[in-house]
Amino acid sequence: MTFQEQIQQGIPSILPPKKQYDLDINHAPKRKEILSAEEKKLALKNALRYFEPQHHAELITEFSEELEKYGRIYMYRFRPDYRMYARPIDEYPGKSLQAKAIMHMIQNNLDYAVAQHPHELITYGGNGAVFQNWAQYLLTMQYLSEMTDEQTLTMYSGHPMGLFPSHKEAPRVVVTNGMVIPNYSKPDDWEKMNALGVSQYGQMTAGSYMYIGPQGIVHGTTITVLNGFRKIKLNPEGNLFVTSGLGGMSGAQPKAGNIAGCITVCAEVNPKITRIRHEQGWINEIVTSTDELVKRVLSAKANKEVVSIAYLGNVVDVWECFDKENIKIDLGSDQTSLHNPWAGGYYPVGISFEDANEMMANNPELFKEKVQESLRRHAAAINKHTAKGTYFFDYGNAFLLEASRAGADVMAENNIDFKYPSYVQDIMGPMCFDYGFGPFRWVCTSGKPEDLQKTDLIASQVLEEMSKTAPNEIQQQMQDNIKWIKGAQENKLVVGSQARILYADAEGRIKIAEAFNQAIAKGEIGAVVLGRDHHDVSGTDSPYRETSNIYDGSRFTADMAIQNVIGDSFRGATWVSIHNGGGVGWGEVINGGFGMVLDGSKEASNRLASMLFWDVNNGISRRSWARNEGAVFAIKRAMEVQPLLKVTLPNMVDESLL
Ligand SMILES: NC(=O)c1ccc[n+]([C@@H]2O[C@H](COP(=O)([O-])OP(=O)(O)OC[C@H]3O[C@@H](n4cnc5c(N)ncnc54)[C@H](O)[C@@H]3O)[C@@H](O)[C@H]2O)c1
Repeated sequence: MTFQEQIQQGIPSILPPKKQYDLDINHAPKRKEILSAEEKKLALKNALRYFEPQHHAELITEFSEELEKYGRIYMYRFRPDYRMYARPIDEYPGKSLQAKAIMHMIQNNLDYAVAQHPHELITYGGNGAVFQNWAQYLLTMQYLSEMTDEQTLTMYSGHPMGLFPSHKEAPRVVVTNGMVIPNYSKPDDWEKMNALGVSQYGQMTAGSYMYIGPQGIVHGTTITVLNGFRKIKLNPEGNLFVTSGLGGMSGAQPKAGNIAGCITVCAEVNPKITRIRHEQGWINEIVTSTDELVKRVLSAKANKEVVSIAYLGNVVDVWECFDKENIKIDLGSDQTSLHNPWAGGYYPVGISFEDANEMMANNPELFKEKVQESLRRHAAAINKHTAKGTYFFDYGNAFLLEASRAGADVMAENNIDFKYPSYVQDIMGPMCFDYGFGPFRWVCTSGKPEDLQKTDLIASQVLEEMSKTAPNEIQQQMQDNIKWIKGAQENKLVVGSQARILYADAEGRIKIAEAFNQAIAKGEIGAVVLGRDHHDVSGTDSPYRETSNIYDGSRFTADMAIQNVIGDSFRGATWVSIHNGGGVGWGEVINGGFGMVLDGSKEASNRLASMLFWDVNNGISRRSWARNEGAVFAIKRAMEVQPLLKVTLPNMVDESLL
């Protein structure tokens, strides 16, 4: 059977042979035992509803085994045998170009080179799912292959509920992930509903078919490091950034440090991960002793080198040793996995990596004590450096939260706030999001690297043209992204689909998208999918991350994210998504996004102008109402450009009256 025929077939009516559990693949860990005996029966009944009754007797044993062994029913037997990757769009069967583009994006999220646990349909972040099981994948691809532009597919947490009649301008797919009644949004509620097969954790770009591999985090970290240096009014050249973690996301830090142009020291306790990052070229050098590290950093400072150095060992040793040796750290952060402190996210100082692994399994109480002791030492060493002028920020990894719980000296005088800001409070929020700058991305669905190269050129030309007349307030962001896009080909950032990311404001996103649409119309490039990370201006309500620089008391509300997805859907998005969870945990955030297919048509041109304008300005208006200065500036500017935009502006109150 050809690839096309397999897609069109959906769930096969003759059972495929049972599959071996492939040990060469990175698998999801066994999930927590959460269901009662009765609930297990319900989970099996739920899984079997995808299959004809004559297969139930055979499948029930297998699914029951999966549930016992892995805590979930993945339906491994139905995993297709064809290679999973974003094929050139013409290779997908179907009647709708938009639906074919969505298939391209789904397959990319499950590509072995891209996905973290491809057989469990997890793209990233440990539990960021595209689907809950393989039946959902097969059925969804079948629906997409048969739908027309007069239908919309509704996706309920990975489950394709079905095709409904709609119209050409409607989204082809509407995705909801993990939407639950708020009172049932504790982590164990997710465990249970996911085990029952009725809800899933879509993370951000996993369940919305918009992941583009590590490029997104490299770009975001580069922007953070560049703006971090700017915040302290220093040029990165010859100056020092100290951090830790070379894992999934944190591994982007040294590469970003190199692109930003500073000296990066990144500590990592795990020798295997350190070696892999070195082999991948994401770090330049590895040192294994603090003496060696001190010498190397001093020579790098003297020669103003751009270099990334991995210290194989504990980050606390680095902070303490640099204090003793009086090495000035300019920028400091941390990206150990402190959202998961007791199970390997944070390794305590003074204990070898092996001993720590042994202790966390066999003596978890002692391990917890050691972690907390280490966090207190960690924070004390940071405090000594900040007293000498280091700028330290929390990088969204719960460092300050866990350090405070451990009794470390990290609280501000009011005993409510932390002593140090988060990267969104100080950097990303006021310098980027408030002005509408956020992670705009696109994918060339032809799968041709030449197309990506052409779009890079188009984007850089558009931004350069815009920068000639852009106001001072946004010049810096424009220049950073021009530099980024010009270096993108050289930095070889593509993993999976032919994708690119940059930060642009509404005007930049619209102009770049329009230029792409014209190039498609002229036949210079194939169809392009536009999208963005959910970690953006408008799409995400997350009180400790994306909306942490909202100070009017509204940061625990989620109206913005919901307004965004509804607004995108009637302004021309090809697909929209809204998720509970993602980044910081189930129940902690509501985030959404979109995908939009450009096909060179006049309709696509109208859609992109209308939807992108809303998609960014929605968030700016909310940030402006919260009295954020940059956002007030940005929304006033948007109103000048578009007379149909009329936003309520805040009146500032004289503090002495309060
Ligand atoms: N700011 C952002 O945009 C952003 C984005 C993604 C992730 N995060 C957060 O950053 C954290 C890291 O994410 P990740 O995907 O890289 O996790 P990860 O678990 O893959 O990597 C963390 C690494 O830190 C190492 N480590 C732990 N303790 C150490 C210590 N004391 N000294 C030196 N090394 C140590 C671990 O060995 C591991 O390799 C998470 O908490 C995540 O939620 C933030």
